[in-house]
Amino acid sequence: MNDAGTPNLGTAQWNEVGRARPHESAVLHVLGQATYTDDIPEIAGTLHAALGLSNRAHARITAIDLEQVAASRGVVAVLLAQDIPGTNDCGPIIHDDPILADGLVQYLGQPVFIVVADSHDNARRAAKLAKVDYEDLPAILTPQAARAAASYVLPPMRLARGDAENAFARAPCRAKGELYVGGQEQFYLEGQIAYAIPGEDRGMHVYCSTQHPSEMQHVVAHALGLHSHHVVVECRRMGGGFGGKESQSALWASAAAIAAARLRRPVKLRADRDDDMLVTGKRHCFHYEYEVGYDREGRIVAAKVDMVTRAGYSADLSGPVATRAVCHFDNTYYLSDVEIRAACGKTNTQSNTAFRGFGGPQGAIAIEYVIDEIARNLGRDPLDIRRLNFYGRLERNVTPYGQTIVDNVIHELVAELEETSDYRARRVAISEYNRTSPVLKKGLAITPVKFGIAFNVTHLNQAGALVHVYVDGSILVNHGGTEMGQGINTKVMQVVAHELGVDLERVRATATNTSKVANTSATAASTGADLNGKAAQDAARKIRDRLAAFAAAQFGGEASEVQFAADTVFVAGREVPFSELVAKAYLARVQLWSDGFYATPGLHWDPKTMNGHPFSYYAYGAAVSEVVVDTLTGEWKLLRADALYDAGNSLNPAIDIGQVEGAFIQGMGWLTTEELWWNPAGKLMTHAPSTYKIPGISDCPEDFRVRLFKNRNAEDSIHRSKAVGEPPLLLPFSVFFAIRDAISAVGGHKVNPPLNAPATCEEILKAVAAVEAAQDA
Ligand code: MTE
Ligand code: MOS
Repeated sequence: MNDAGTPNLGTAQWNEVGRARPHESAVLHVLGQATYTDDIPEIAGTLHAALGLSNRAHARITAIDLEQVAASRGVVAVLLAQDIPGTNDCGPIIHDDPILADGLVQYLGQPVFIVVADSHDNARRAAKLAKVDYEDLPAILTPQAARAAASYVLPPMRLARGDAENAFARAPCRAKGELYVGGQEQFYLEGQIAYAIPGEDRGMHVYCSTQHPSEMQHVVAHALGLHSHHVVVECRRMGGGFGGKESQSALWASAAAIAAARLRRPVKLRADRDDDMLVTGKRHCFHYEYEVGYDREGRIVAAKVDMVTRAGYSADLSGPVATRAVCHFDNTYYLSDVEIRAACGKTNTQSNTAFRGFGGPQGAIAIEYVIDEIARNLGRDPLDIRRLNFYGRLERNVTPYGQTIVDNVIHELVAELEETSDYRARRVAISEYNRTSPVLKKGLAITPVKFGIAFNVTHLNQAGALVHVYVDGSILVNHGGTEMGQGINTKVMQVVAHELGVDLERVRATATNTSKVANTSATAASTGADLNGKAAQDAARKIRDRLAAFAAAQFGGEASEVQFAADTVFVAGREVPFSELVAKAYLARVQLWSDGFYATPGLHWDPKTMNGHPFSYYAYGAAVSEVVVDTLTGEWKLLRADALYDAGNSLNPAIDIGQVEGAFIQGMGWLTTEELWWNPAGKLMTHAPSTYKIPGISDCPEDFRVRLFKNRNAEDSIHRSKAVGEPPLLLPFSVFFAIRDAISAVGGHKVNPPLNAPATCEEILKAVAAVEAAQDA
């Protein structure tokens, strides 16, 4: 049956991909029956671990007294760095990430020991009883301080094209300034967790909430001094990852496995929310210094930006994050003469990591800030300045890193949104409103997005899948991607059902497991459905081809003419039910399962010159936001948001719209209410929802219009769809710039409000005061 309820007969109109199917676990989610790692029935004898954390930002440990910890109720063991049988490291790229601090603590919250007890509560209680003596060392807490001290986790990077210096000197108009954009806690609803079960002959099975099972496998193997084949990592689903479980799940997986291996008992390690926030890395905050030259129409002729991030105490994924920031500074704009620098400041804070967008949002927001400013300086609508600087179709179409853009739809997409959102008329109405409203000011902004899809590191762009067709005609699909709520399993199931011409109900997806598909990449960079969908399609095709050959041999006709649709196989004028053909094929000893593989073609990247063709294609989008700001309190409300997103030939429009809505609100939280604050001793004080404000349902706009732009991917992606996971996180730039627009109304749009992100009430009030002061001056 199709969505309209009519039977799905015939092959021509039969389609499974492109349908608005509910998430495969939607019912289980709603009923509370979806199994997360903590819901797995515990094996008898399971013990529970907790981590003992450093309470200094940077110090040498001079003495540790764990007597009271060991004597605490229910405690079975206390483990230190020297108890790790293999390598004391869980760093994803550079091996600078100790699982347990060994003599030196580098941030407040760093794990120092593992305590294992008979219950979660007893373990947590005991962890607090350690007596540690420290000898404090100077701590660097901010990116600016790191730069001043030339303290970096990696050598700074630079991407340049043309002669920005010279072009700047000759530019008719110039602007210069700085901007700070804060970090963000991933705030997955399900916290970090791992459950390690020792098996025979040193084997270890780890269930954990991770976006990267293969890396967890490697890290656990290294920590235990084993080979990869000793370790199985399994994850059915995460209650959200958002990048925070790409590398940051490694600590929990390895700590649980170390304890389980030592005690030969199953050990579960479940992070309390406060510990989770104190221990794990977040989105990188960025500080920017920029200089632009532009002509009198507002066309940018020179752009220079110098960014520094708070990488935290170790490299983690900071290099790739900064690279993506560099490669997204252009956003949708052609920058002829440009120089982009980025440095990863080594600080005594949590090691920052992936978060939806992975540096892309941090790169692009800087140029949007600049464009906003150029528009105000020239007294023009920012949309006009944006449009003037958009990449061209056939010229002005090469990015600063050398990739030619062949799929640009930003002109059409923005034109459509301008129309459907009634942008111009609302601009007039808002000016009218502001004229007679001294305290409440409204603001409006439209912002575009271009986001490169693929891992910059070429070799990561590969995926595998395994499809089993059982004798009863039911189908099981397994792939290397992980489900974190984004709907990858639903999409992959649709691809398989489509390929085999069967009802979606026949197909079931199982947990990601390193013993099924090997050497997988992280489900990240929005590539999950792209890569694993293609791999599953490859596997399903192989089975279909074997079934077609068998059907033709059995019933006559050519194998190439056999059709699979509507749960039926059409062969030589007959209609054979799929399950009937499968049963016959089994008896004829046809292989009914297959692996599949995919490697994205055409990618290359030179990290030294920062040049190449790092992306398979670009996803585009734009959004319009309207806000009202109370200029006496700094409170504000998003009145209406319109978003238009290019999901190509969407695999599943319902899921894609959900992704756009979620990313929009999450990005809005990043830019407005979610403030990370460390005290002068380096303690993150915002380590729970009581002090860290993520958006609530009442922060969502009452009028929220999300649509998908009609398009087909120019690249041969899975069914010509486009990735959707991260790019829409940039859409709420429009909220930030609408707030800035409202503030600037205080000064008759003559002054650029110096607004940093997050634009908290306090930050908004500061910007209002700055605009008023500039006016009085
Ligand atoms: N959606 C939900 N519901 N939960 C998540 O954790 N993570 C995001 C995005 N959407 C996330 C999500 C991030 S950071 C990425 S990279 C992509 O999903 C990964 O999935 P995909 O590549 O399959 O789109
Ligand atoms: Mo997403 S930040 O690439 O996990």
